[in-house]
Amino acid sequence: MMEKVRNVGKSRRTLPRWLRGLSARLLVLTAVFVMLSEVLIYVPSIARFRLTFLENRIADAHLASLALKATPDNVVSKSLMLELLSNAMVRGIVLKRREARTMMLMEEVPPTVDFTYDLRGADAMQLIADAFTTLAEGGRTLRVVGSFPDQSEGSLDVIVDEALLHKAMIDYSTNIVKLSLVISLLTAGLVFLSLRLLMVLPMRRITASMVAFRKAPENANAVISDSTRGDEIGTAQRELRHMQDGLRTALTQKGHLTALGVAVSKINHDLRNILATAQLVSDRLGDVEDPTVRQIAPRLMQSIDRAIDLCSQSLSFGRADEAAPKPTTFPLRTLVDDMASAAGLPDDGSIQLHNRVGDEIILDADREQIFRVLMNLARNSIQALDPGTKPGEISVTANWGAAGAIIEFSDSGPGLPARAREHLFEAFTGSARAGGTGLGLTIAKELTQAHGGNLTLVSSDDRGTVFRIDLPGGPV
Ligand SMILES: Nc1ncnc2c1ncn2[C@@H]1O[C@H](COP(=O)(O)OP(=O)(O)OP(=O)(O)O)[C@@H](O)[C@H]1O
Ligand SMILES: [Mg+2]
Repeated sequence: MMEKVRNVGKSRRTLPRWLRGLSARLLVLTAVFVMLSEVLIYVPSIARFRLTFLENRIADAHLASLALKATPDNVVSKSLMLELLSNAMVRGIVLKRREARTMMLMEEVPPTVDFTYDLRGADAMQLIADAFTTLAEGGRTLRVVGSFPDQSEGSLDVIVDEALLHKAMIDYSTNIVKLSLVISLLTAGLVFLSLRLLMVLPMRRITASMVAFRKAPENANAVISDSTRGDEIGTAQRELRHMQDGLRTALTQKGHLTALGVAVSKINHDLRNILATAQLVSDRLGDVEDPTVRQIAPRLMQSIDRAIDLCSQSLSFGRADEAAPKPTTFPLRTLVDDMASAAGLPDDGSIQLHNRVGDEIILDADREQIFRVLMNLARNSIQALDPGTKPGEISVTANWGAAGAIIEFSDSGPGLPARAREHLFEAFTGSARAGGTGLGLTIAKELTQAHGGNLTLVSSDDRGTVFRIDLPGGPV
C-alpha cells in the first residue's frame, strides 16, 4: 500500500511541466465539456436515426409491393418474392388498404414476432426510449406498423430483424464517438493554445519577473517590460512595473542615505573632537581682561557647547530617532533673542528680526530642540532674503490657542520655489538651493512632532513666507 502511495506521488512529480499548469487543466476540462454536449446531441439523433431506418424499410416495402400489384392475380414466384424481401431488408410485408384486400409478401415460414412498434404518432420521448431498448436488446423480430408513403389510407406492416437495425445503430454511434473525440480534442487544443498565448505565458513572465526581482531588486534587468495590452494582464504588468520602479528608487535612495549616514557619523565624530579643543581654548578667553573679549566670550562658549551637543545628538540620530525631548519651562521671548544673536544676521542691519513674542509665553518644552527649530527657519529665511534688492524682515509672533502655543515665523522673502514646495519636509529631496541638504525643515518638523505638535507652511508667495509651529500645552 505504502509503495503504491509513493508511486502515485512520484508520478505526479514526474508529470511534464505543461501538464501541471493551468492550461493543461483547462485542456482536460474543455475536452470533458465538449464530450458532455456531444452526448446531449447524441440522444435525440440516435432516436432519429432509428426512426429513419424503419421509415426507409416501410418505403422499400411499399416499392416491393408495387411489383406484386403489377401481376394480374397479385402473385409472384417464390424466388422473386424472396428477392423483393431481401432488397427491402425485411422478412415480411403486409399491406392493408381500406378499399382493397390485404396483400402479403412473406417468407415461407412466417417469423414469430417478438414486439410490435407503431410508428404512426409516436412521440419524441417514446422514440428515444425505444432507441435505447433496441441498443440493449438487439436480437428480436419486430413488426413495424407505418403508413403508406403515398398517404393513402390503411397501414403497411413490415417484419424486420432487429439485429440489422442494431448493427446500423452501433456503427452510427461509433462514428459519432469518433467525431466527438476529434471535435473535443480540436476545441480543447485551440482553447489550450489560446490560453497559453493570452494568459499563461504573460503570467509566467510576470511571476518570473517577481521572483527575479525578489532575489535581486537592485538588478535593472529584473524589472518587467512595459505592456501596451489594455486587458487585466496588461494592467497587472504595468502595475508591477510601477511597483518595481518605485521600490528600486526607494532602495537606491536608502542606499544613499545609509552611505550618507555613515559619512555624517564619521564627520560628526571628528568634529566633536575638534570642537572640544576649541572649547578648551575658548575657556581660557574668560581670563582675558579686554572688555570686548569678555562680552563675546560667553556667546562663543555657548555656541561651541551647542555645537558639541548637536554632534552628540546627530551621532545617536544615525542609530535611532532624535533624542526624546527633555522639557523645561522657559520664556519663548528670550529663546528667540538667543536665536537671533546666533543666526548670523548681516551686520549692516539689512535684515531685521522682530521678536514680537510676549513675555507671557512661557513654554514647557525642550529648549534646545525648539532653539534648533527656530534656527532652521531663520537660516532658511536669511538664505532666501536678498537684502541687496530690498531690506529683509523676519518676525516671530506667538499666542495661546485652544490646543497650545501657536508660533508664527514669517519673512518678507520671495516665497518657496516650486521644486521645494513639491517635496517640502522630505529629507534630502526638499532642497531647492545650491549647497542645501534638504534636512533643515525635515528635522524641524520631526522635533516639533516629537513634542506632540507640528510644523506647517501657512502661506508662501512673492510677499513672503509664513511657517507655523504648534506646541501642545497651555500657559504655565
Ligand atoms: N523662508 C523660505 N523662503 C523661501 N524658500 C524657502 C524658505 N524656507 C525654505 N525654503 C526652500 O525650501 C528648501 C528646503 O529647505 P530645508 O531647510 O529643508 O533645506 P535646505 O535649506 O535646502 O538645506 P539645509 O537646511 O538642510 O541646509 C530650501 O532649499 C529653500 O529653497
Ligand atoms: Mg535650511
